[in-house]
Amino acid sequence: MARIRVDRLVKEWGGSFRAVDDISFETGDGEFVALLGPSGCGKSTTLRLIAGLEEATSGQILIDGADVTNVPASGRNLSLVFQSYALFPHLNVADNITFGLSVRGVPRAEREQRLKKTADLLGVTALLDRRPSQLSGGQQQRVALGRALISETPVCLLDEPLSNLDAKLRAEMRNEIRSLQQRLGITMIFVTHDQTEAMSMADRVILMKSGKVEQSGTPADLYEKPASTFVAGFIGTPPMNLVSATIEGGNPIIEDVSSTNGGIILGVRPEHIAFGDRGQPAVVEGSEYFGADTVVSCRIGNQKVMVRAPGRPGLGQGAQVNLTWPEQAIHVFNAETGLRRDIN
Ligand SMILES: Nc1ncnc2c1ncn2[C@@H]1O[C@H](COP(=O)(O)OP(=O)(O)O)[C@@H](O)[C@H]1O
Ligand SMILES: [Mg+2]
Repeated sequence: MARIRVDRLVKEWGGSFRAVDDISFETGDGEFVALLGPSGCGKSTTLRLIAGLEEATSGQILIDGADVTNVPASGRNLSLVFQSYALFPHLNVADNITFGLSVRGVPRAEREQRLKKTADLLGVTALLDRRPSQLSGGQQQRVALGRALISETPVCLLDEPLSNLDAKLRAEMRNEIRSLQQRLGITMIFVTHDQTEAMSMADRVILMKSGKVEQSGTPADLYEKPASTFVAGFIGTPPMNLVSATIEGGNPIIEDVSSTNGGIILGVRPEHIAFGDRGQPAVVEGSEYFGADTVVSCRIGNQKVMVRAPGRPGLGQGAQVNLTWPEQAIHVFNAETGLRRDIN
């Protein structure tokens, strides 16, 4: 079991560009934390700093209260899983999984006993004699995971480990990794650019933007109370609708983007909008059918609004509709800063 704390961490490349710009966060013991954000926002750099693969420009990294900022990677007692599995092509699965133990001189009997346990845990027992080239992508991912878990470190860091898998396998592995993490009680920091992955797996999500923490909270916090338009527009499928509006008599009025003087940004999630007899007039532009529901793109003036409607609403392009949403589904953001604010 272990807690990780990152305090005012900074990483500069080339002496000026801040890939990680003064971030602080703490994980609980045995917590699953997702580091989420768009490509280039500093997720991998943050993870590599925690792992000891990069040197911090300033700030501190603590594991269980001990300052490890200047401790080499080998002394941090953590394991790593990368997107590019990084398996040794000339070693079989068994030797790949036990490689780290062999290097550290763990006796053969113990190695074999731990290999058996890990292989069972990951369902790769029948594959132990194969080379990586004889495995599917999902099987290679399991072996990479096995190599990390066999080390029995209290912390495991994963960098986009599911990115190379197809959609169905990715969904399976999400569940599998989450349940392994819970069963073993280890602390995991999981880097991903995929909000579905972060939302479905993590106890806590740290959403990064341009090297900074934009919001940190439970998946429900980020979904229900996004701190900014950036968070609102990052979480959800499709993400929250964000339209320019003004507030008159406590009610938001949606207007054309061209007239945003002193206005606000109104946010409503597609799944909270319904078609009604009365409401905000809009025109249908197109729709995407998913089986259980349909995402209908509409236009209010010159602003685009997505609606997630159950089943098949059967609305063709050009249809005139009225959109309604409950008052509690409304989010309001400052038009200049993008930050969340109260409606009045
Ligand atoms: N070794 C490096 N040298 C210089 N710049 C780097 C290096 N590694 C990453 N960067 C830059 O730092 C920023 C953050 O990168 P990274 O942490 O890999 O982002 P993410 O994992 O969120 O996609 C990017 O602009 C990237 O180009
Ligand atoms: Mg990365």
